[in-house]
Amino acid sequence: MSSLVDHFLFSTGLTNPEEITGASAESTSSGGLLCEANKLTNPGEFLLSLKNTHMDIISGQALLLFFCFILSCFLIFTTVRSRRSSRGAAKLPPGPPRLPIIGNMHLVGKNPHRSFAHLSKTYGPVMSIKLGCLNTVVIASPNAAREVLRTHDQILSGRYFSEALRSIDHHSFSVAWLHPSSPLWRLLRKISVTHLFSPQRIEATQALRMKKVQELINFVSECSDREEAVDISRASFVTALNIISNILFSVDLGNYDSRKSSDFQDMVIGVMESVGNTDLANYFPFMRFLDVQGNRKKVKDCSERLFRAFRGLYDDRIKGNSLQMENKDVSSKDFLDALIDLNQGDEAELNINQIEHLLLDLFSAGTDTNSSTVEWAMAELLQNPKAMTKVQDEIDSVIGQNGVVQESDISQLPYLQAVVKETFRLHPSAPLLLPRKAETDVEILGFLVPKDTQVLVNVWAVGRDPSTWENPNRFEPERFLGKDTDVKGRDYELTPFGAGRRICPGLPLAVKTVPLMLASLLYSFDWKLPNGVASGDLDMDESFGLTLHKTNALHAVPVPVKKRVIS
Ligand code: HEM
Repeated sequence: MSSLVDHFLFSTGLTNPEEITGASAESTSSGGLLCEANKLTNPGEFLLSLKNTHMDIISGQALLLFFCFILSCFLIFTTVRSRRSSRGAAKLPPGPPRLPIIGNMHLVGKNPHRSFAHLSKTYGPVMSIKLGCLNTVVIASPNAAREVLRTHDQILSGRYFSEALRSIDHHSFSVAWLHPSSPLWRLLRKISVTHLFSPQRIEATQALRMKKVQELINFVSECSDREEAVDISRASFVTALNIISNILFSVDLGNYDSRKSSDFQDMVIGVMESVGNTDLANYFPFMRFLDVQGNRKKVKDCSERLFRAFRGLYDDRIKGNSLQMENKDVSSKDFLDALIDLNQGDEAELNINQIEHLLLDLFSAGTDTNSSTVEWAMAELLQNPKAMTKVQDEIDSVIGQNGVVQESDISQLPYLQAVVKETFRLHPSAPLLLPRKAETDVEILGFLVPKDTQVLVNVWAVGRDPSTWENPNRFEPERFLGKDTDVKGRDYELTPFGAGRRICPGLPLAVKTVPLMLASLLYSFDWKLPNGVASGDLDMDESFGLTLHKTNALHAVPVPVKKRVIS
């Protein structure tokens, strides 16, 4: 036992027992000790005996203290451990077992929204996944989505951004990636809403959208005359691009003629592809310095060329304005004019760098999303001839013969609106929304989501959740008829535009553009699949990127409409 005490003394660095007890020889004298002293005649013996007795007492006390110390350590250790495990393992969302280093990356395929949806069937609507070093929670039910997008919107509205974005510093300037607490984010959202998406601006740009959609119909007419199939993906992309480029700059930047390549178009697609590609550096920070997949080089090249194009348009406008004798009237001003105003004067609100990044956001977020939705809707209708007939009959009955679809007609087309909602349910452009990040620890449906976790809302899985939707994988627009369910961020079973403070600001434009393009294509032509492909054989494979694309672009043959019988 003494060796244990010695060891304790040694290990504490305290070699003098008094240092442990805090008591001196004098102060430890007691009646018992004096009796012992009387019995001993030899003072040396007495001193020795006193020392031994003293040492025994001190050893006993030290031993007691030693045990107290060990016990306290043990108690502290077990308490901390049990707290940690109740905060961590017990309350963390469940998820699949992890492998060293890669975590769960081996379980995630080319279409992560599908892999996650499959795993959520086993692990539930709030699921933990580890992607390399990145802790991620995936949400897969309307209730859990409400928690993220409404209840804890503030804590969860920061973003996780990719290395590709970081390489062009886009995360420091972009409305889509800045933190909502940043004054710049608030300013950019305000500018977008005021100058682009307010009801007045949407109304003011209505004629422009009609004109661009009419150009699409003219192009399809030419294909129809030549009995050629139309690449719906490309044609609707060019239309969406020209709508945005005219709202922003009053110029066409897209070109229907596939023989004349459009640089601008290629650059927008290039940025989107490289940002959307899986990049290992996002999951393994030590790979940040290597650009193994070349994403950063591509995003840098394309965005630098785009920035130069924006700068050219900006400078030309300033030169043009200075040559104009009279000031433009407000109604003829476009977004570029508004940006120039914001950039000028002593109290300029935006600098040219911030303007370039904003324009990059608007082009990348506002083109492919619209066009891929139109493409998916056409693909679903070609696969479901009954729905195609029903929607065409509805449009004919409202527009009549030889008319033109107007935006104002859309409110009278409930089945067309149901077709669009059903397309958003089955094919949301951003199946995982944009990645969010927990600013602090937060509880979602009773599970702890620790600070810094990436949070993904799998709206693709929510849209196909069998406990919410009957026949979830079937295209049945009828399910929306007579229901109030909408895409505007209040119904958490259908949030293709997100919800809360990060909801897509372009929603008011998209809900005008998509139905108008679709109704016009359906009203002006009948459609069939090329080379005798039967409707049941149409492939509906999807490719995940920044937006969810049809892997193989839809080609369809437009047939001039014979006068349909109008009921
Ligand atoms: C079918 C069309 C569209 C769909 C499905 C769509 C969807 C989305 C989604 C899911 C988000 C992320 C929301 C979140 O994180 O919770 C988003 C953000 C955004 N969208 Fe859209 N969008 C569409 C059209 C547009 C258009 C036409 C524009 C502009 C011209 C636009 C501009 C933006 C911007 C700037 C953001 C970032 C907002 C922020 O993070 O604060 N979008 N969009």
